[in-house]
Amino acid sequence: MSNNIVWHEHKVTRAERAEPKNQRPCLLWFTGLSGSGKSTIANALDVALYQRGYHTFLLDGDNVRHGLNRDLGFSDSDRVENIRRVGEVSKLFADAGLIVLSAFISPFASDRRLVRNLFPEGEFIEVFMNTPIETCEQRDPKGLYQKARAGQIKDFTGIDSPYEIPEHPEVVLDTSAQNVDDCIEQLIQYLQDRKLIL
Ligand code: PPS
Repeated sequence: MSNNIVWHEHKVTRAERAEPKNQRPCLLWFTGLSGSGKSTIANALDVALYQRGYHTFLLDGDNVRHGLNRDLGFSDSDRVENIRRVGEVSKLFADAGLIVLSAFISPFASDRRLVRNLFPEGEFIEVFMNTPIETCEQRDPKGLYQKARAGQIKDFTGIDSPYEIPEHPEVVLDTSAQNVDDCIEQLIQYLQDRKLIL
């Protein structure tokens, strides 16, 4: 980082930006294997919150990799940089007062911790999609597991690239055992209990 850079505090705080919407800014960080239901549940929660009048924004791996992170692949170092950038972008949206939903495999615990540490206590909510790999592979919505098994994709998470299971996630969901409505109810309840939404 250059030496000649000075941080400017905003006059309007993130809490003030969120207040008119009866919400507190926070980040719901969906982590889990490909096919575990991250995007499906994050999208459904986004809709549910929007319908209740809350101001949200959704960031998701496939989409962000079409733009901001189009220069990154799936090597360990590219995944680290992917999550670093997405963490910073998530923080900017939270600074704007929004409830942010970010859905990324984010396989490394250290990267998820770095994102957590960008947020005040209680505003980073790790949502672990604990769907068994057998189910993810059976679903294989994009045919990627099949390609990975055939050696046509390398460094595929869960096959020949690691996924480090979260040790203390705030929320655990398993879409092989819970339907979408159950997951959304659990997440809304979590947000209400912590007064992140009214
Ligand atoms: S990461 O690990 O957090 O940087 O990955 P992410 O940005 O979430 O991107 C995951 C989506 O990219 C597709 N894809 C792969 N995933 C894992 N490993 C490899 N090698 C790979 N190649 C492409 C895949 O569609 C992932 O989307 P989801 O929604 O997780 O299935």
